[in-house]
Amino acid sequence: MPRKITISLIKADIGSIPGHVVVHPKQLEVAKEKMEEAKKNGLIIDYFVFNFGDDLALLMTHEYGENNPKIHELAWTTFKEITEKVSKKLKLYAAGQDLLVEAFSGNIRGMGPQVAEMEIEERPSEPLVVFGADKTEPGAFNLPLFRIFADPFNTAGLIIDPKMHDGFIFRVLDLIEGQYVELRCPEEMYDLLALIGTPGRYVIERVFRKDGLPAAVCSVTKLNLIAGRYVGKDDPVCMIRAQHGLPAVGEILEAFAFPHLVAGWMRGSHHGPLMPMKMIKIDWENKIGYGPKMTRFDGPPKIVALGFQLHDGYLEGPIDLFDDPAFDYTRQVAAYIADYIRRHGPFMPHRLGPEEMEYTTLPQVLEKLKSRFKRM
Ligand code: F6R
Ligand code: MG
Ligand code: MG
Repeated sequence: MPRKITISLIKADIGSIPGHVVVHPKQLEVAKEKMEEAKKNGLIIDYFVFNFGDDLALLMTHEYGENNPKIHELAWTTFKEITEKVSKKLKLYAAGQDLLVEAFSGNIRGMGPQVAEMEIEERPSEPLVVFGADKTEPGAFNLPLFRIFADPFNTAGLIIDPKMHDGFIFRVLDLIEGQYVELRCPEEMYDLLALIGTPGRYVIERVFRKDGLPAAVCSVTKLNLIAGRYVGKDDPVCMIRAQHGLPAVGEILEAFAFPHLVAGWMRGSHHGPLMPMKMIKIDWENKIGYGPKMTRFDGPPKIVALGFQLHDGYLEGPIDLFDDPAFDYTRQVAAYIADYIRRHGPFMPHRLGPEEMEYTTLPQVLEKLKSRFKRM
């Protein structure tokens, strides 16, 4: 049996400075200490910790498979400890926000943090691209994932690489009904698009090559559906394997050259462009990545991309993939779109529709005005 490696990417918003702007460096340092300890104890093979805006992510490799209680507990206790040792002590904003329950109960899914995990047989060379997006929702990856794995105008390999020519299978979750369907591309492309064009409900969770090879995985939890009240947006993470019969790194990145509109931004209640961002700093020695901050109107929604090479479970890298003048134009277009759409103020389609809003005073306003509405 070839050795199997699991890559677990687990993230949470457990407080930030100031307001919802950015993770504090001390939070990342405590995360690093916990990961280093787990590596010494042999629980994980390797790790990298990083942030994007107010979200702190733990990237871990190990041999325990997906949904492993030991790995999930490690993530949970790490988030708890950061909350106690840093977020609460420094009175950071929204300390411990995503830790929705008191005690860990075996699987971190449904407890607040976002999870993306993939068990793989490491190929002779295994390039991996890891994404984190702040001030948006899991469905934000629908459009780029479609482009990467199904659109030949994005991914040349779909046409000219014999190993990709058969296409890919998309697993799409229905977040409302709690069920999923697998759709094959290119055969069922129009059915796929009919669903994933509603990114607040239908979310691509995984992509497989037709021979079953796992190619991509996204976090899909909807916090507000778990908690039944506003607890922040479900800022998502995603991992994509690259090259040699899968989309090239450059085909994966190409999908983010168009800053498409996503839901999230201020108060989780506005549409805005997804801006590809450079990291502020990457410290290879300490295995910490310091990610971008959220500023204008708490945003705009931003995404980072970190590129690794795996070797026997070790994470070589990362390379900051959006740190290139090639993405400056996209950032400028995103800034222009942000400015344009912001001028709509409280009007749709900048503001989300009433059923999608995270905060709303509409019921109170309607209640107050009830007696004053007259029949037409
Ligand atoms: C969006 C986000 C922020 C907050 C906003 C208000 O996901 O986290 O935009 O919604 O700053 O925050 P509160 O209600 O905590 O003052
Ligand atoms: Mg926050
Ligand atoms: Mg966030």
